[in-house]
Amino acid sequence: MARPLALLVVLLVSPVAMRAAEAAEACAGEKFPAGRAYANCQDLPQLGAALHWSYDETKSSLSVAFVASPAGTGGWVAWGLNPTGEGMVGTQALVALKGSSSAPTVKTYNITGYVPLGGASTPIAFPATDLAADEGAGGKIRLYGKLQLHKGMNAVNQVWQVGYSVTGGAPDKHAFGAANLASKTKLVLAGKATAISPAPAATAGPGAPSSSVGGGSDSGSASSVAPSAGKSAATTATGVSAPALALLSLVGFLSMV
Ligand SMILES: *[C@@H]1O[C@H](CO)[C@@H](O)[C@H](O)[C@H]1NC(C)=O
Repeated sequence: MARPLALLVVLLVSPVAMRAAEAAEACAGEKFPAGRAYANCQDLPQLGAALHWSYDETKSSLSVAFVASPAGTGGWVAWGLNPTGEGMVGTQALVALKGSSSAPTVKTYNITGYVPLGGASTPIAFPATDLAADEGAGGKIRLYGKLQLHKGMNAVNQVWQVGYSVTGGAPDKHAFGAANLASKTKLVLAGKATAISPAPAATAGPGAPSSSVGGGSDSGSASSVAPSAGKSAATTATGVSAPALALLSLVGFLSMV
């Protein structure tokens, strides 16, 4: 009886531990040129990509650095926001194309469907400025840009991709492997990390620092007020979020075994 339980615990815990370890080394170790600093970094779950970002909530302005290795040395990397859906179609994309040029160039594309993209940018819903790209360690492409988001966009779907080649200044079709198709998550711009970090005295174990990676220092403060507004300190203390509860019950489960 004890052995299946122990196995279950290992299965439950190891992916979490692995992901925390990855986060600790991958995106946090990125060294950008002077003048490029970002408040948050997030290792994305597919294609070895990472997103570094700062969000100015008062201006709805999002600065990003997207880092990924193209699928081939003359390939491309892309990142975008999809305000209307979850997948590729609808994505307002920034694409950094290496091709045969010495430095990658950046274009914007409104991805309207599974059709080839042209060599020229198309307008996107979020005015994009400060577009640039360079090459990082190990042949990675780093794509920089600033997007003017719409007021009140606190969370939005993000999609990213890497491609093998560039033809006529346009990104060629990417592979359709499992990782290519799963490269999408939600980007939480405001209220980040507050779901877990305020859990009062949550037996601050080794997991605690990783849940607050990137801090979200200023952007999170507003939303941390919201849930407790109008409640007494006592109610607030018991108002532990669902992820925190899951974490606590896992800790409890572990201590039982
Ligand atoms: C993007 O393409 C869609 C579909 O054609 C269109 O409805 C939308 O207006 C386009 N967005 C921009 C910013 O041009």
